[in-house]
Amino acid sequence: MKYKLTLLLLACCSMMQAQTPVYLDPSKDIEARVEDALSRMTLAEKIDVIHAQSKFSSAGVKRLGMPDFWTDDGPHGVRPDVLWDEWEQAGQTNDSCVAFPALTCLAATWQPLVSSLYGRALGEEALYRGKGMILGPGVNIYRTPLGGRNFEYMGEDPYLTSRMVVPYVQGLQSCGVASCVKHYCLNNDEEYRHQVNVIISDRALHEIYLPGFEAAVKEGKAWGIMGAYNLYKDEHNCHNQYTLGKILKQDWGFDGVVVSDWGGTHNLDQAVRNGLDMEFGTWTDGLTMGATNAYDNYYLSKGYQKAILEGKYTTKELDEKVRRVLRLFFRTTMNKQRPYGFLCSEEHYVTARLVAGEGIVLLQNDRNVLPIQPKGKKILVVGENAIKMMTVGGGSSSLKAQHEISPLQGLQERLKVSDCQIEYARGYVGDVSGNYNGVTTGQNLKDDRSPEELINKAVEKARTADYVVIFGGLNKSDYQDCEGHDRKTMDLPYAQDKLITALASVNKQTIYVNISGNAVSMPWRKQVPAIVQGWFLGSEAGTALASVLVGDTNPSGHLPFTWYENLSQVGAHSFGEAAFPGIWREGKKIIDEEYKEGIYVGYRWTDMKKLKPAFAFGHGLSYTTFKVSNLRSAFDETTDGNMTFKVDVTNTGDRPGADVVQLYISDVKCSVDRPVKELKAFQKVMLKPGETKTVTLSTDKRALSFWDEATDGWKAEPGEFIAWAGDSSDRLTCKVKFTLK
Ligand code: GLC
Repeated sequence: MKYKLTLLLLACCSMMQAQTPVYLDPSKDIEARVEDALSRMTLAEKIDVIHAQSKFSSAGVKRLGMPDFWTDDGPHGVRPDVLWDEWEQAGQTNDSCVAFPALTCLAATWQPLVSSLYGRALGEEALYRGKGMILGPGVNIYRTPLGGRNFEYMGEDPYLTSRMVVPYVQGLQSCGVASCVKHYCLNNDEEYRHQVNVIISDRALHEIYLPGFEAAVKEGKAWGIMGAYNLYKDEHNCHNQYTLGKILKQDWGFDGVVVSDWGGTHNLDQAVRNGLDMEFGTWTDGLTMGATNAYDNYYLSKGYQKAILEGKYTTKELDEKVRRVLRLFFRTTMNKQRPYGFLCSEEHYVTARLVAGEGIVLLQNDRNVLPIQPKGKKILVVGENAIKMMTVGGGSSSLKAQHEISPLQGLQERLKVSDCQIEYARGYVGDVSGNYNGVTTGQNLKDDRSPEELINKAVEKARTADYVVIFGGLNKSDYQDCEGHDRKTMDLPYAQDKLITALASVNKQTIYVNISGNAVSMPWRKQVPAIVQGWFLGSEAGTALASVLVGDTNPSGHLPFTWYENLSQVGAHSFGEAAFPGIWREGKKIIDEEYKEGIYVGYRWTDMKKLKPAFAFGHGLSYTTFKVSNLRSAFDETTDGNMTFKVDVTNTGDRPGADVVQLYISDVKCSVDRPVKELKAFQKVMLKPGETKTVTLSTDKRALSFWDEATDGWKAEPGEFIAWAGDSSDRLTCKVKFTLK
């Protein structure tokens, strides 16, 4: 008997060898594998793979050997595991990660290569952690400085966002880990994100708010897109026929999966017909509440299966969803060619420091107070943000970092070799809490002294210090830089303005370092000689900041958004409540928010209104100086639209440094209104003292085009254009005219 059984098994094995199923054969084309797998799946198995089975996972197909699929937040690092069906921590001891700088810092590098390294490093961490999809990057446009999640995004300009998101997606997916570009679309503020219905012109939609997503899909070949919570044309963006069916899948040819935001699915028929492929987090607000183990009750679960069995739907839509999920599997969990993952490797810390060092922006440096000359000096460090951990909090992008070096620690470590004295004064008390979603910082920031005592103590020490370095700004608490709410004001919280003014009045070498993802009002700006935008820099924050402050690193970051003086300079806040945060409809279920400023977002607005912001889009200083000159077109006077420009950049200072050459285009005469100028090319260039390089900047007809609402497409009108070049939107030092045939 045993002998016969052995013979039978041998026969089966040889048969299997002879007929490896197509879906299991890595040599076969993915589409063939998809069709083969689809043909083998039962209805129940098809239903299983299109909705969550736990907080962050969806089912594979056990019978066919396709593993469960794991997603995880977030854009800046791999979120620690939560329990199967709870938002609380799973309490793993092997899921601490590298916290990379927030994406506004990445955008501020203006260096696509750095973005590629970022995506790759994050992909390696995700791979090691067994995740098939990272829920990021975010590319929503910075429409208002109050936006709670701006720190997770790449600024106000669609072109900069487009150039920076593509390499991130490519780097991440080179690890066989899917990106899930979010939050598609028009999720530009947080307070009423589940109820907002955005009203917007087609021009503003296509010229400002979609390009980042379009580039991620068409150039980055993103494998995932996350539908946003809010509505557009009265349909929720997680199942919106116009944005998902027409624009994303039909016009852009997106072949990946549309994943709902957690709790963003609200309607079975729309979920079936309007382009949603994977339903996650239903009945949660994405953060906390939710019915336990309600996965069978999801819209795309038993209810959908029942509707099919009752003949309400064929399996046409279902098979289309499953094809996309299977394609995702074969790109990730079923992809045998994936590289190895790494967690907390030195290379990843190098990447974190590189992004930070290239993204920190030197906003102001009167009298060249910076870099600090530490020898023999007494340096007073002030502020809660010099010691407070920032990797915990902020919502779903919160992390459990293996370590986070604070600005104070970074300075102490860097300066221990320099004969200098460092003192610390709290200066203000902001948010002493230190936990999010079960992750705790372990810090005890409690301090019962009154604001007056704190300020007086700091001022007393400042009188005898050679330098005062204030670390202030925002943090990751609710109503600051945090998901789920927007700020209520552009002003600094916790009476910091009073502290900064007091310190600057007693010490002429005062340096203010702003830790935030958003612009803040700086009424004391003229009294403080040096100002640095320090972003949320993650694990290596202190190391990177110290390196810039003492001059080991020459800062080369440039602002990815306009730094307004105050809200009166912001388009979104110039048309009353209807434009922000919106007007509630009867019954208070939906709030209509009309983007009345249209395409005039950021510098497009301040240019048109001739407003002078505190610091302009694209602004960033260096410890050396540069000259941008001699812009010329490498084509004759007229062009068919494909254009190449050349411009010279000279380091006119005495130390090496990098400058960001920016090219803006103006349409001199057009049948529709257009911004004064728009960013259409840029390049970061490293120069030795005295060195001049000729930079080539290429662009194409799309750069001259506007969205023509009459024909629902891009249109460039023949005629005269002007190209401007410089190293900030308000420092354009050369121009050249040309004509589009
Ligand atoms: C949250 C966020 C989204 C996140 C998801 C999972 O609500 O909006 O960015 O990826 O839910 O945490």
